[in-house]
Amino acid sequence: MNDAPTLPNDLDAYWMPFTANRAFKTGPRMLARASGMFYYTAEGRPIIDGTAGLWCVNAGHGRREIAEAIQAQAVQLDYAPSFQMGHPLAFRAAGRIASITPPGLDRIFFTNSGSESDDTALKIALAYHRARGQATRIRLVGRERGYHGVGFGGMSVGGIGGNRRQFGAAILPHVDHLPHTHAPGRNAFTRGQPDWGAHYADALEGLVALHGADTIAAVMVEPVAGSTGVLVPPRGYLERLRELCTKHGILLIFDEVITGFGRVGRNFGAERFDVIPDIITMAKGLTNAAVPMGAVAVSDEIYRTVVEGAPEGIELFHGYTYSGHPLACAAAIATIDLHAAEDLPGRAAAMEGPFEAGAHSLRGMPGVIDIRNFGLIAGIELEPYPGRPTVRAARVMQRCFEDGVLVRTTGDTIALSPPLIIEQPHIDRIFDVLGHAIRAAA
Ligand SMILES: Cc1ncc(COP(=O)(O)O)c(C=O)c1O
Repeated sequence: MNDAPTLPNDLDAYWMPFTANRAFKTGPRMLARASGMFYYTAEGRPIIDGTAGLWCVNAGHGRREIAEAIQAQAVQLDYAPSFQMGHPLAFRAAGRIASITPPGLDRIFFTNSGSESDDTALKIALAYHRARGQATRIRLVGRERGYHGVGFGGMSVGGIGGNRRQFGAAILPHVDHLPHTHAPGRNAFTRGQPDWGAHYADALEGLVALHGADTIAAVMVEPVAGSTGVLVPPRGYLERLRELCTKHGILLIFDEVITGFGRVGRNFGAERFDVIPDIITMAKGLTNAAVPMGAVAVSDEIYRTVVEGAPEGIELFHGYTYSGHPLACAAAIATIDLHAAEDLPGRAAAMEGPFEAGAHSLRGMPGVIDIRNFGLIAGIELEPYPGRPTVRAARVMQRCFEDGVLVRTTGDTIALSPPLIIEQPHIDRIFDVLGHAIRAAA
């Protein structure tokens, strides 16, 4: 145990991300350490981690295997330039990732976050079409209520009003959006995938008719949208999107930043849904969040088209100082080994039923207007207080924290995404505490 202070002495300097800074600083919620399924406050109060941090600590907290791999690597090679130089672990890490991505998606580009992975994927899509002589394909298609991080590309392709409005002046041109698939009137309280709504994918035909397929480079969607309130794809929707992209020569990008690494009961959502995109973006669970890292897996055809089609010299003008950072690579390899050794995707699949039952046990509680779930993800949507959106959910979140459970809010939805090592008593406790908090906020 190190002796770093667990309480700050001043809250002023830190401008917190995606946080109501003023409210937080009047009543800070501080986490001082973590182990397994639990966070602990500075006073030692245990908090069940109902969110795997931010959908990322999939193997649970404080995994010794990962920490030791990072420590060993820090001593062996702290850093190597990522441009024009290599180090063995980056190649090994890429190989390990390729060994679990869907067949054919086995060329790996390293980034440091989900946002960087998403922007990287969009740039690769543009570079690919240009390299194959289709430079008119510059249009990027996202989906309403999609979240693809905070870079200018991901923000523009993403479909969250609040994230875009503040920076509206700099939203990318040549971007369009499919409709979201959220249809509470038809699908409220569905367990798993809704039966209704595959036709939402057909809107892509409308964009093709409007702009011409020869102007569209890529469609980017999350297989299951998380940050916009847990939106599970209707049955047949992703399949239809795949069909239409193939028909029109458009690349399909799955943003698997939260659905990757076991969260939906398989290594990737692509596998679980049996729909293989051309590009997968990932981050978060890749290193169990112990070191920041993201990655983009692309098809061999994309890699070869861009790399072999280029004149001598650098083929893709893109990369980060910390692409394939040695400590991140060590963490990624150790994490993937741990996932395999403990069959964490299998564990998630086994716990999906009990987790679903726990989530849907909240049906009928005051203000609960929908419950959605898939894999180890659940969203409990609350009716907002009249004229005060997000306030009810924020109260529930605060009450849960006081009662020892960490949940997340996205708008008026309580989102849950626990570590994949969750067991029945944790599930019982999470939904018990959440139920009390929902009643208290009635
Ligand atoms: C689907 C998705 N894409 C991208 C991101 C952005 O990842 P990061 O915060 O690591 O940049 C997130 C983060 O929650 C996400 O959920």
